[in-house]
Amino acid sequence: MQVQKPYQYKQIPTQFYFESKFNQLKNMVDASNTVIITDENVFEHHTSKFKNLNTIVIKSGEQFKIQKTVDSIIQQLIFFKANRSTILVGIGGGVVTDITGYVASIFMRGIEFGFVPTTVLGLVDASIGGKNGIDVGEFKNMVGTIHQPKFILHDITFLNTLPEKEWQNGFAEIIKHTCIGNKKMFQELNGRNIKYYRSKKTATSLLIQQNAKQKLKVVADDVFEKGNRKLLNFGHTLGHAIETPYKLSHGQAIAIGMMFACKISEQILRLKETQSVEKLLQQYGLPTELKFNPKKVLELIIMDKKRVQDEIQFVLLEKIGKAVIQKISLNQLEKALVDFSA
Ligand SMILES: NC(=O)c1ccc[n+]([C@@H]2O[C@H](COP(=O)([O-])OP(=O)(O)OC[C@H]3O[C@@H](n4cnc5c(N)ncnc54)[C@H](O)[C@@H]3O)[C@@H](O)[C@H]2O)c1
Ligand SMILES: [Zn+2]
Repeated sequence: MQVQKPYQYKQIPTQFYFESKFNQLKNMVDASNTVIITDENVFEHHTSKFKNLNTIVIKSGEQFKIQKTVDSIIQQLIFFKANRSTILVGIGGGVVTDITGYVASIFMRGIEFGFVPTTVLGLVDASIGGKNGIDVGEFKNMVGTIHQPKFILHDITFLNTLPEKEWQNGFAEIIKHTCIGNKKMFQELNGRNIKYYRSKKTATSLLIQQNAKQKLKVVADDVFEKGNRKLLNFGHTLGHAIETPYKLSHGQAIAIGMMFACKISEQILRLKETQSVEKLLQQYGLPTELKFNPKKVLELIIMDKKRVQDEIQFVLLEKIGKAVIQKISLNQLEKALVDFSA
């Protein structure tokens, strides 16, 4: 047997266009062989931008991030005579970019794709990292691929039409980023609020860029989530479990999840800054507590995590700006859930 050095396949680089304008898109792709995917809300608010572009408009909302929508997009791609050199461009929030990346990575065994994220959450989180997925029944992101987009273009003027609730959702992830790795940004946010960022384009643009780069750095070093990428799950263990059953938005759910992680961090790591985190979340319109059924929520956490035995990996804070992954026992978790939900 001849053992050869493993062959290293080429990674596809992603080109970022920060502080850009949507009309740059026509210099980046051949419009005649590009198909845009967007959702109803983005299309209605920005109809003129889609003039002369082959566009597929999907229904908006998480409930449409499903196989049925994928099938309908594929039908329309065939109608548009899309081929292996067609580029798909997802213009929208995380639902649109997730589904665009997914369709692009399976259509004709994979075609190129790019994103123009139009929500705060999309700009700083969902568009970055190459995870593209759809939901199956009640299971979020159950099916998907890891494929990187060819480009990501930021045009923050899309945010002019973004509802307040969606700003809050995005800021929950921004606050998460500050907690796990950027104390200075935490302090900056402290002196400001959503109203400020809605009116100050330069500050918003800078904040979005810093956050996108922070996520980018973490995921570029750990594409398949073996190490530090896990830190991005801060607040998400409880968050995922309560989001659907308690009818919370993702941002609301992880805000409560971050508070819970802070409470456990107080006990295990002697975190002393829970109140500062709480104040900041409230300042950005996010909830910090919830009355829930601890037994039911514990079951949901165990179900979500799969293969749990008597310990669970949890992202905790040592201090603002420094997160760590620590195993905690299910007993400890249950006790903390009972205390927190009281
Ligand atoms: N792939 C990843 O790594 C990753 C990471 C985080 C989240 N996600 C996914 O992202 C999704 C959430 O993303 P989201 O919060 O952007 O949700 P979303 O795509 O549903 O957008 C939120 C709402 O805002 C509307 N909207 C979008 N842009 C607008 C604009 N400029 N003006 C007016 N309305 C606009 C949408 O129509 C929708 O109603 C979830 O499905 C989640 O699983 C993926
Ligand atoms: Zn999240």
